[in-house]
Amino acid sequence: MKIDRDFSEEYALADGRVVSLRLVQPEDKQSFVESLNICSHQTLYNRFMGSKPKFSENELRYLTEVDQRHHVAIVGFHDGNLMAVGRAIRYMSQPQIADVGIIIADAYQRNGIGSYLLGLLMIAMIERNVYQLCGEMFSVNNAMFRVVDEVPFDVKWRLDGSVANFEIDLTSN
Ligand SMILES: CC(C)(COP(=O)(O)OP(=O)(O)OC[C@H]1O[C@@H](n2cnc3c(N)ncnc32)[C@H](O)[C@@H]1OP(=O)(O)O)[C@@H](O)C(=O)NCCC(=O)NCCS
Repeated sequence: MKIDRDFSEEYALADGRVVSLRLVQPEDKQSFVESLNICSHQTLYNRFMGSKPKFSENELRYLTEVDQRHHVAIVGFHDGNLMAVGRAIRYMSQPQIADVGIIIADAYQRNGIGSYLLGLLMIAMIERNVYQLCGEMFSVNNAMFRVVDEVPFDVKWRLDGSVANFEIDLTSN
């Protein structure tokens, strides 16, 4: 398995900065708290589809204490700061389908890392026998539209007013 507990990778952003990628750990809670300081309101709003001024203790546990089988989370650090998170969580009722979410801190956006993280999550979930990745986002989220539309798999979109849903068919390539 490529994306297992020992996964660790250096990724060079388009602007040359190098990001360290690995799976999330329970010890990352403080980094999650601090990451809120380097994400704009708009970035947080787009990721959580609502304002996110702080994480509760329960949320921090949920975000960092994951089994990496049903819930996979890949984190990226630069200069000691948590600046990228990609997460895929299987549906309880349909464990071969997972919900996916990505957030990149503002100063690191448009450097290729969002697309790269989605690629890693696709590999991780295929390795875990998931055949579809789904997500919900705002219809005006051009960045995420672009990231999803570039994947080498069939993608179905459903637009419903201000919200857009996508389904990536991981069996289609
Ligand atoms: C969406 C998001 C994850 C994209 O990450 P990113 O690292 O900035 O994206 P990338 O650099 O990999 O860009 C991928 C493509 O999208 C394009 N893109 C990125 N941001 C864009 C924007 N704001 N408007 C239009 N296109 C954009 C890039 O130009 C690139 O296209 P290209 O390959 O043709 O050059 C990031 O913007 C983000 O964290 N947004 C806030 C949270 C969010 O919206 N998450 C999605 C819902 S879960």
